[in-house]
Amino acid sequence: MSRLAVIVGDAIGSDAPPEQTLQRFGYSRLQRTAALADAMEVVSDEHVDLLVVPVEGVSEQDLAALDRVLRRERHMGVIATSPQQDPQLMLRSMRAGIQEFLVRPIALPDLVAALERLHRRVDAREVNGQVFAVFSAKGGVGTTTTAVNLASALAANHGEAKIAVADMALPGGDVALLLNVRPAYDLSELSSKIERLDSELLNSVMTPAADGVWFLAAPERADSADSVDAGAVSAILAQMRSAYAFTVVDCEHQLTDRTLAALDGADRILLLTELKVPALRAAQRTLGIFRRLGYPNEKLCVIVNRLQSGDVVSPAEASQVLKADIFFKLPNDYRTVSEAATRGQPVVQSHPDSRLAWAYLQLAHKLGGGSIVASGEAGNGSRSVLRQIFTRKRN
Ligand SMILES: Nc1ncnc2c1ncn2[C@@H]1O[C@H](COP(=O)(O)OP(=O)(O)OP(=O)(O)O)[C@@H](O)[C@H]1O
Ligand SMILES: [Mg+2]
Repeated sequence: MSRLAVIVGDAIGSDAPPEQTLQRFGYSRLQRTAALADAMEVVSDEHVDLLVVPVEGVSEQDLAALDRVLRRERHMGVIATSPQQDPQLMLRSMRAGIQEFLVRPIALPDLVAALERLHRRVDAREVNGQVFAVFSAKGGVGTTTTAVNLASALAANHGEAKIAVADMALPGGDVALLLNVRPAYDLSELSSKIERLDSELLNSVMTPAADGVWFLAAPERADSADSVDAGAVSAILAQMRSAYAFTVVDCEHQLTDRTLAALDGADRILLLTELKVPALRAAQRTLGIFRRLGYPNEKLCVIVNRLQSGDVVSPAEASQVLKADIFFKLPNDYRTVSEAATRGQPVVQSHPDSRLAWAYLQLAHKLGGGSIVASGEAGNGSRSVLRQIFTRKRN
């Protein structure tokens, strides 16, 4: 597995052996940044697995920022280094969520022991998967298409991991159509027995779908859908988090208590919009509500769907209007999505060579890491794009 380590300043010195040790532990990509603030930018752009930071000159503010980032990037390990074993500094580091502390110059056995401890911790945490909720207050913007294809791309990028997609746009049915499955059970079976919910009960209602994605169907009848309340949604997502490395939720468009429970329970909310006035206004209103609800900016990922050259609003203008960064842009390719939908396959499977398949894989990588698996030659000259991504910003 190709892991990315970001090394701040002279955190590990300039000798080759510590770098070689990091490479031995799978950090084949090492990126050096001048300051912690620069490293934070990399963390917000890419899936960083390890951060090594010289902690002696770091301000309280920067440590607080790091603490916030670590609550979100739960997969990321952090090693602090300093010229001496300073108990005050160690305490401050631990309070900021830093797991390991090494004295410089770094003794290789200490570095090896720290990396081993970090990996054990991350492995244990992997059971505790991540939840991505896909939401748009406006219908027809592409939430279901994006949720299904993101789940499939996460599965492609994480060969061994279990991935789930949950249809919580009740009454549902659209996810089942895109995956061409006829589920025998749905989540109303869970909500009616919610007090007995455990991994076995969850497994019994999940339907295997395309390429390693497990599917939790929504009831198609409105009266069954009414029986699913916010408490049930929270409990189901918590259970899914412990069973699946990634769970992608297709949310309903209304901000009901049930939807809010799904959004509260998610690590990231993918707010879908298009570069068109009605969709942007809907996204702007939704972001206002999310901010009033106290969701941190890092939790909110604005995704522009169906990007095309004729859009009257530019991504930069959209970002200004929304007062938020655009996390990702998905190209418009109606022909590919509709052919995939007709076949009942995700785009990554049905059209692995398309630009859209490549975009879904990149989005999955940005959210969940893993290595992008280009099946066929996804995108234009995907191998060179792949190389560009993995060598980008390397110093
Ligand atoms: N990237 C894309 N390029 C082109 N067309 C797309 C793209 N994403 C989605 N679409 C199309 O947009 C339409 C709406 O998509 P989808 O059903 O996923 O949206 P939705 O927000 O879930 O809608 P609903 O309101 O029915 O829940 C569909 O026809 C779909 O094929
Ligand atoms: Mg939908």
